[in-house]
Amino acid sequence: AKILVLHGPNLNLLGTREPEVYGRDTLADIDAMLIRRAQAAGHGLEALQSNAEHALIERVHQARQDGTDFILINPGAFTHTSIALRDALAGVAVPFIELHLSNVHAREPFRRHSYLSDIAVGVICGFGADSYRLALDAALARLDHRAP
Ligand code: DQA
Repeated sequence: AKILVLHGPNLNLLGTREPEVYGRDTLADIDAMLIRRAQAAGHGLEALQSNAEHALIERVHQARQDGTDFILINPGAFTHTSIALRDALAGVAVPFIELHLSNVHAREPFRRHSYLSDIAVGVICGFGADSYRLALDAALARLDHRAP
């Protein structure tokens, strides 16, 4: 299957950005780990980071044409602001998991609301770079029909 990983704004700074909150792994480390893991399970994985809402939305639209089976998305701060990203994901109807490095429920109150969670297959947060691994494993389980 074809898996698309989307990273939202500021995630290009991972490794140096508030490491006490987001950890020390870089985005390149995370992407390499995800690609290795997906390939080992016989699947393809492509990752894109953008600081621009329109670029993420356009990549979601493209996912409908290019046969993407599943999306993993860390929308960054767009989680809490973007009705447009929500509408894009709802519009293409490709199943997705929302994930966050930090536990958004243990931080500022404005991080508790997500425009995406209620239309996601599921949400994973609070495990640092492991959130990505857990999200990928959940996606693989679903794609292999191992999950309900
Ligand atoms: C984040 C949490 C968001 O609230 C924040 O704006 C981010 C990163 C996370 O991965 O923990 O940019 O999505």
